[in-house]
Amino acid sequence: MSLTFDFKPNPAPLATEEREGLLADPGFGRVFTDHMAVVQYTEGKGWHSARIQPREAIATDPASSVLHYAQEIFEGLKAYRHPDGSIALFRPDANARRLQNSAERMAMPALPEDIFVESVRALVRTDKDWVPSIPEGALYLRPFVFASEVFLGVKPSAEYIYAVIASSVGSYWKGGVKAISLWATKTYTRAAPGGTGAAKCGGNYAASLIALAEASRQGCDQVVFLDAVERRYVEELGGMNVFFVFADGTVRTPPLGGTILPGITRDSLIRLARDQGLTVEEAPYSIEDWQADAESGRLVEAFACGTAAVVTPIGRVKGDGFDFTVGSGGPGQLTERLHRQLTDIQFGRAADPYGWVQRV
Ligand code: PLP
Ligand code: COI
Repeated sequence: MSLTFDFKPNPAPLATEEREGLLADPGFGRVFTDHMAVVQYTEGKGWHSARIQPREAIATDPASSVLHYAQEIFEGLKAYRHPDGSIALFRPDANARRLQNSAERMAMPALPEDIFVESVRALVRTDKDWVPSIPEGALYLRPFVFASEVFLGVKPSAEYIYAVIASSVGSYWKGGVKAISLWATKTYTRAAPGGTGAAKCGGNYAASLIALAEASRQGCDQVVFLDAVERRYVEELGGMNVFFVFADGTVRTPPLGGTILPGITRDSLIRLARDQGLTVEEAPYSIEDWQADAESGRLVEAFACGTAAVVTPIGRVKGDGFDFTVGSGGPGQLTERLHRQLTDIQFGRAADPYGWVQRV
């Protein structure tokens, strides 16, 4: 199924000088472009009214079901400026499929892949001047779907709004990338078997915020969640997957068992690592083993990864009754190499043998 996007230009786009001022140091998630994509869904009619329009507030009835029962899902991907000035997306088809999987889990209608990809491409083409040229800067795209039926009964909504907004971003981390510290919470879990952990739904993030606050109180940058059953096995961070690198050269990452998000960065890094001959195990790893292996030197690096955070070294891990350093406490060699290899492909500085990069 495909739809034609109507185009309603913003009559008052931000002045060039002001935009360029913002793009010089955008931070993360606070600078927004002039336009947005919108597609509506009505039961019986399907997806309709596709358009690129000025970015504006969405009027929401106080009884809209998303406000009460949180039927909402989202995605995150980036558009990158290449050395020749062209702009490219990274694996937008994978985000489209993950949005469909999230929709299924949340009893929402699936958005066809081509509508997703076209919505993102059309928005990036329209707001191409908002893609920053600063090192590691990108246009972060946030597609999302929410339940908009005006009805208080508990049931799947019969109406939805899909929209894409775009935000010019620099590093996710204030002051640029450095090794982060994690708080391993035993108080809170992120997702239980049978729950929504593998879906990118807003509720997962709402439930993670108190644990992030606990991590901050403990002086840590981020929280790392353990499995909900045994409270031992490392799952992921609030918005990033995690990898471990051992002294013998093997790499490990927690398996996709329904309780963690199947990260597209995770998948890409597994591929890059395997293609350079490394063994990558998708296997459980306990917090006790992490500590013992870090202290014995068997584990030499750990890093977090995601679209927003790219590849971020983990330098220190704290929890109730323990506090250990990972490797040197700074970025490890493989972490740096994978970061460079991935971003070289994304930014068009290296060939893309995988067909991941799609010109807009
Ligand atoms: N895990 C969670 C909970 C996330 O929110 C994200 C970010 O999207 C990731 C992992 C990494 O996923 P991706 O690499 O697709 O951005
Ligand atoms: C992303 O990496 O795209 C996310 O959605 C994670 C969030 C921390 C911004």
